[in-house]
Amino acid sequence: IVTNLLTCGKPKLPPHALPPFYCCPPMSASEPIDFTFPDPSEPLRVRRPAHAVGAEYMAKYERAIALMKALPDSDPRSFYQMANIHCAYCTGSYRQTAHRELNVQIHFSWFFFAFHRAYLYFFERIAAKLLGEPGFAVPFWSWDVPEGMRMPVEFANASSPLYDPVRNPRHAPPKVVDLEFVRSSVDDKFTDEQQIQQNLRVMYKQMISNAALPSLFHGQPYRAGESDRPGAGTVELFPHNTMHTWTGDLARPSVENMGVYYSAGRDPIFYPHHNNIDRLWEVWRDVGAARGYRGHVDFTDPDWLDSSFLFYDEEARLVRITVRDVLDIDKLRYAYDGVGTPWLDAKP
Ligand code: C2O
Repeated sequence: IVTNLLTCGKPKLPPHALPPFYCCPPMSASEPIDFTFPDPSEPLRVRRPAHAVGAEYMAKYERAIALMKALPDSDPRSFYQMANIHCAYCTGSYRQTAHRELNVQIHFSWFFFAFHRAYLYFFERIAAKLLGEPGFAVPFWSWDVPEGMRMPVEFANASSPLYDPVRNPRHAPPKVVDLEFVRSSVDDKFTDEQQIQQNLRVMYKQMISNAALPSLFHGQPYRAGESDRPGAGTVELFPHNTMHTWTGDLARPSVENMGVYYSAGRDPIFYPHHNNIDRLWEVWRDVGAARGYRGHVDFTDPDWLDSSFLFYDEEARLVRITVRDVLDIDKLRYAYDGVGTPWLDAKP
């Protein structure tokens, strides 16, 4: 799958399925440039958990979002356009270059982790650039460890740029997350302690028991000329989808903002949420290497490796980045630190 700006347009949706939206990126005056790795002398961006970085650091993320929100909507680095990137890749706004009748969809297939990694990479560099702090790293929402199983309080402060009024009011902190939450779930099934233990078991199941092969973890192959959504990986279904639904407002028709693709990127918690997803990709490979799980490795299929997506970078240049480019976070000059994997002991 190779994305092309010219194939972006109004998605073909069933009538009244969603409120009308148009989320294609601004056109570029020039052809996309090929991605190049950041200079190895750049500071390493160390992503740390939101529950542990401290108020001062969270205030930086807050300022980065405020700066993005202050850019005009026409600027590809504006918060408006950041949210639209997700919308365009997830709603069928992009069509396949050689098969215009087919959607480009980066969920429910082997592109889930790779696409979102590239997205977060550019988002973070834009944030760092706006802050004037080249080492700035976006914190992650570590809902997989007990200390992180609540929405970080900064997001719930109504006067913060991190606040989004379109969320489930019952899930504001100190509510403990439910990693299996779906639309029909009821709250308060468990005590907090029981819920935490249940969440740890869910993590073990999705990261280890059910994820022994690349196609089980990443999702099923999806190639040009094939229809979208061949099948999602374990973590995408839950805790990823479930945390989207847990965060969004169940009183809205499509669980906006976080609970539906077209609007999920409008909530500033989307990015720390996806940072944690991205971190779990690293954990899945690391645990596999440490324990000799031979299936915990990425695909080597060129159809995966050579697939590409378009993003605007921190200089507002249009860049083409391939899946191959995002496999080594060290080369992307970032790292994760600050949480363990307590769920490895929670074998159900
Ligand atoms: Cu692209 Cu969390 O969805």
